[in-house]
Amino acid sequence: MTHTLDRTARIRSTWQAVWDRGEVDALDQLLGPGYVRRRGSAAAPQDREQFKESIRAIRRAFPDLRTEIEEIVEDGESLAIRWRSTGSHTGDFLGVPATGRPVEVSGATFTRFDHGVVSEEWVTWDPRQLLEALGIITTTQRAAVDADVVRGVHRKFITGVTVVTCDDGGKPRGLAVNAFASISLDPPMVLVCVQRSSTTHPALHRASHLGINILAAGQLDVAKTFASKADDKFAGLSWTPGAFGVPLLDRSCAQLEVEIGERLEAGSHTVFTGRVVSARHEELAPLVYSGGGFFDISRTAPLPW
Ligand SMILES: Cc1cc2nc3c(=O)[nH]c(=O)nc-3n(C[C@H](O)[C@H](O)[C@H](O)COP(=O)(O)O)c2cc1C
Repeated sequence: MTHTLDRTARIRSTWQAVWDRGEVDALDQLLGPGYVRRRGSAAAPQDREQFKESIRAIRRAFPDLRTEIEEIVEDGESLAIRWRSTGSHTGDFLGVPATGRPVEVSGATFTRFDHGVVSEEWVTWDPRQLLEALGIITTTQRAAVDADVVRGVHRKFITGVTVVTCDDGGKPRGLAVNAFASISLDPPMVLVCVQRSSTTHPALHRASHLGINILAAGQLDVAKTFASKADDKFAGLSWTPGAFGVPLLDRSCAQLEVEIGERLEAGSHTVFTGRVVSARHEELAPLVYSGGGFFDISRTAPLPW
């Protein structure tokens, strides 16, 4: 436990020194000499010196930079850090002269310790607001697409309804999600998109596995409960922990347990991808969601094809 406090306290104080005050050499105590920083597939990995230089460049462009650590979750030698940074663009950055605009970006950093120092980090964040502040994408371009029209487009797309669940230190958590998709069959991979404002989000973010329960037509009441902010959505509900400890809802027409892989920050949501580690389905008709309403697919007519 002392070890845990040491690590999180070290991260907090080092981040404050480095990001808020520009004392980048404080990283020499936290990051090992062979440190590697990964930033998604497009950007090249950075070593410790390159990372320090990139912080100096960011601070030259945003001298009033402030970074708030929202949560640190520790799992053995690995830690997940959710953060939010704010600053004003008052210096050149990426070849763009100062715009004076305020910028807020948020993301997550996954940190691995090795012999008391950080050996590797993987960072994911949404660059949209930064690109907007730099004028690389513009609000005029964004406003050209009417939000109501986009909403109307989404209402034309028919989906099922899932309840995405996880075990949060012995407490079952979950929310209704229709942003679920298969990524690939071999390997079996799926994704779900969860809004960061959801109260289930922090639990999902620190979980190693999540459950996807595809609701049956007879589970409209379950869909409503999990689309709510009820304190204990599992009260009075019949559910069973799966082989990987994830809460699986009885009477749902299909269930997956997923080992979480990437947690990608995108707009207001986090995209969780992962590998399916257990799966089953029943001979039950799925609940259908379309245009804001719920339907029983067994009462629709199949078209000849
Ligand atoms: C049919 C339906 C689909 C939904 N799909 C999603 C989704 O894909 N992602 C999401 O974050 N919220 C989705 N929601 C909204 C959440 O279920 C809702 O905001 C819920 O109150 C969140 O609960 P929580 O804050 O307790 O986690 C959906 C709601 C409904 C009714």
